[in-house]
Amino acid sequence: MPIELIETVGRMQAIADELRADGKKIAVVPTMGFLHRGHTSLMQKGRELADAVVTTLFVNPTQFGPNEDFERYPRDLDRDLEMAEENGSDYLFHPGVTEMYQDNYSTFIMLKGITDKFEGRIRPKHFNGVATVCAKLFNITKPHYAIFGQKDYQQTLVVKKFVRELNFDLDIVVAPIVRESDGLAMSSRNTYLNDDDRRDAGILFAALEEARKEIVKGERRRTTINGIMHNVLRSVPSIKIDYASSADAENLGEPEVFLDGERIVLMIACYLGRTRLIDNSIITIPEDPSVRRYDFKEGL
Ligand code: PAF
Repeated sequence: MPIELIETVGRMQAIADELRADGKKIAVVPTMGFLHRGHTSLMQKGRELADAVVTTLFVNPTQFGPNEDFERYPRDLDRDLEMAEENGSDYLFHPGVTEMYQDNYSTFIMLKGITDKFEGRIRPKHFNGVATVCAKLFNITKPHYAIFGQKDYQQTLVVKKFVRELNFDLDIVVAPIVRESDGLAMSSRNTYLNDDDRRDAGILFAALEEARKEIVKGERRRTTINGIMHNVLRSVPSIKIDYASSADAENLGEPEVFLDGERIVLMIACYLGRTRLIDNSIITIPEDPSVRRYDFKEGL
């Protein structure tokens, strides 16, 4: 069956109701379009898990700050429809802004704590907009699974948290980052990079990898790990770093020293030219009692 383009909430909800009445499992892949291999890997994951895959394409105005790129965010519906179809999506839900946010729209989800740091500190209302639109998309597409990319790591924690706390009845599935050959994480915003900035953009992955290597060798001190990433990033003189930080992967806590067996996330946000890029990597601190004793007694 060819992919069906759906532009109204009512039609999407009716289809979701029919699928559920037929005992079908639904996976939703929320996107803002201008699809790339990162998105198509999410659709393929949805295909593995469910009987019907709904990809949503909505450039959500409520998650953009006043000086961000809402207006110029890349858009290409025909290309997205084709890619969604080729990668196993049955439906593309593509509502207009007024279909999602009627006049005097006033209801928002606001999380505390987890949204105060990293992306949330730099983009103050961003996660309220993300949580709100995801909640709406879940109520519209009625999925059993929602598939998100690890690339927006803090976003995945925010979505999991509100889903758990507001008792949404679905599973959040997080799929690995898809990278270009030099390590640059796939993103619709990569199209903003000029040739020079694109050449430099592999530096984010290089910084994550350098920190990973030092952790494997025994580094446990959070600020030292952050310093390693900063040093690598600064080898590109024009770079502007928003943050290059490590934290507990579950709650983004920032202890002085990470412990053996702890799952941590390394996160970077920086500008190359006018393009803001983010990336991250998850690593479990290796179990090595000798290294840990050394760090505690002599390294601090
Ligand atoms: O990750 C994105 O593309 C967006 O934040 C999402 C989840 C589609 C919500 O607008």
